[in-house]
Amino acid sequence: MSDLFLHDVRLPSGERAALELRGGIIRSIHASGSGGPGLPAPADLPREDGRGLLVLPGAIDMHVHFRQPGGEHKETLLTGARAAVKGGTTTCGDMPNTSPHTTTLAALAQKAALAAEAPCHLLFNFGAAPENLLDVRQAAATPWVRALKIYMGPSTGHGGLAPEHTEAHFRQAGRMGLPVMVHAEHIESIAAAEGRFPHDARHHADLRSIEAELTAVHEALRMARDHGTKLHLCHVTSARVLDLVEASGIRERVFVEVCPHHLLLSTADIHGPVENRYKVNPPLRPEPERAALLAALAARIDGLASDHAPHTLAEKRLPYDEAPSGIPGVEYVLPFALAWWAEGRYDLARLIALTSGNVARFLGLNRGALEPGREADLVLVDPDARWTLGAGDDRVASKCGWTLYAGTPLRGRPLVTLVGGRVVYRHGG
Ligand code: NCD
Ligand code: ZN
Ligand code: ZN
Ligand code: ZN
Repeated sequence: MSDLFLHDVRLPSGERAALELRGGIIRSIHASGSGGPGLPAPADLPREDGRGLLVLPGAIDMHVHFRQPGGEHKETLLTGARAAVKGGTTTCGDMPNTSPHTTTLAALAQKAALAAEAPCHLLFNFGAAPENLLDVRQAAATPWVRALKIYMGPSTGHGGLAPEHTEAHFRQAGRMGLPVMVHAEHIESIAAAEGRFPHDARHHADLRSIEAELTAVHEALRMARDHGTKLHLCHVTSARVLDLVEASGIRERVFVEVCPHHLLLSTADIHGPVENRYKVNPPLRPEPERAALLAALAARIDGLASDHAPHTLAEKRLPYDEAPSGIPGVEYVLPFALAWWAEGRYDLARLIALTSGNVARFLGLNRGALEPGREADLVLVDPDARWTLGAGDDRVASKCGWTLYAGTPLRGRPLVTLVGGRVVYRHGG
């Protein structure tokens, strides 16, 4: 944490301002009306020239897979965090499907010890296991854990938790006020489809249908209602899920997360020599579903997360049944959110809600708003910059080294990232 006088930035309201950051906290905001951006820096504060750039709260991405321990050849907490801050993300929530799973205090401590080096805040979503209710209570008392993660169906590195154990965790989490994040795909529906379709990337969406997702979401909503649990639905792929959530009677207790890949790509995009690059759980959906989900972004969705799931291209080249599921993208969440804003899909207040504000409120983090008293996790953006993802001066920072979006023209670019009042990333520097 540190102190800084951030001179001459533009607030989302359009006003020019200077921000006084002390002890990692936004101490005061001097907008044009109140002394203005021209205010001289207090003598004791180092000064950063904001060059008139737009200042936003850093993005909060509660769904990343940084693979450490056990998958360090794909990503580590350090390489993942570096990629995050390059894209303007200042808090990441790492998932428990590492090896070992993060379902014990010992496994949590191992990750926490590695986190000190990381340039962004790291939180660890603790994993639900058949017999770890006590571990969950202890983990939730540490500063590292803000949510419990439950795999209601199988995905990379996890076979899925049995329904009776899932229910026990929902019950306990409800009593504790601990939000539950779910991977919602119904195990039996997936098993039933197994023999009915060819096993290849193009049929992944048939092998794991929207109905399988709806069945699991329906069950998660039922448990959240019965036990008073706060529910975070991970990687929602269909607006039909939103209909269920809105009819649930507990909308205010549910957080709907969507990922850029389900907003940008559909089954029609699956092509190239390595089709398994598009294999992800839950799958990419047909084009009309993608379009409907993107149309819902402006009003019906609570937040964006990357589900950053780095795998090597060598792993993706394996035959379909052996190739791991998952698409990398931790460094491109805010860039896409900015591009959608530049397209006129929503205003800056909504961009902040989608990238940090809503999830901060849901989890009780003192972040995600530009106000005195909030943590000084900030990103400086050139709103007019036109650039091409994965080309020119943009190199993929994730250790896995590839992206599905290379060549995409974007508008609006994160240039400087601050965590706790300290500059942790500077584009080109
Ligand atoms: C994720 C992974 O690789 O860890 N894969 C994926 O397809 N999304 C696991 C997950 O989020 O389900
Ligand atoms: Zn998942
Ligand atoms: Zn995931
Ligand atoms: Zn902070």
